[in-house]
Amino acid sequence: MSESSHIDRRQFVNVVLTFLGTIMGAIVGLPAIGYLISPATKVQKKDDWIPLGPLDKYPVGAPTMFSFNRTTVNGWEKTVNSYGAYVVRFSPDQLKVFSNRCTHLSCRVNWKDDIKEFLCPCHDGHFDIQGKVTAGPPPAPLHEYETKIESGNLFVHFTEG
Ligand code: FES
Repeated sequence: MSESSHIDRRQFVNVVLTFLGTIMGAIVGLPAIGYLISPATKVQKKDDWIPLGPLDKYPVGAPTMFSFNRTTVNGWEKTVNSYGAYVVRFSPDQLKVFSNRCTHLSCRVNWKDDIKEFLCPCHDGHFDIQGKVTAGPPPAPLHEYETKIESGNLFVHFTEG
């Protein structure tokens, strides 16, 4: 009888220790599991307002290039993509911002001041200062970003894709 009572006590201690071990494991392990799987469950923002700095730094009449990076997160994989935009100020309060990606096969266009056009070096695509195609294979004008100005700073609305 007393041996049976001793075994019961030992079993009781084992049950209590197992229970405490499980609780301790959960306390330590659950946050770690959450940390490990959280990248896969994160919803990435697909669009954003990109700050291009003070509007005054962009001269009127001379398209000016601005570069920015965006990080794409796909599960645990991070990819940094670089983008370019041309700020074209037609007057102190009239402007457009174009992507520098050609609408043909996505090569980068460059502003050529001598011919007053954006030129794509890949297949000789030409765009005028309004972003419209003037020559070559591009099927559409340069993408124009939506813009806003807050406290004298220029922003473009960037959409992934
Ligand atoms: S990629 Fe620009 S003309 Fe072909």
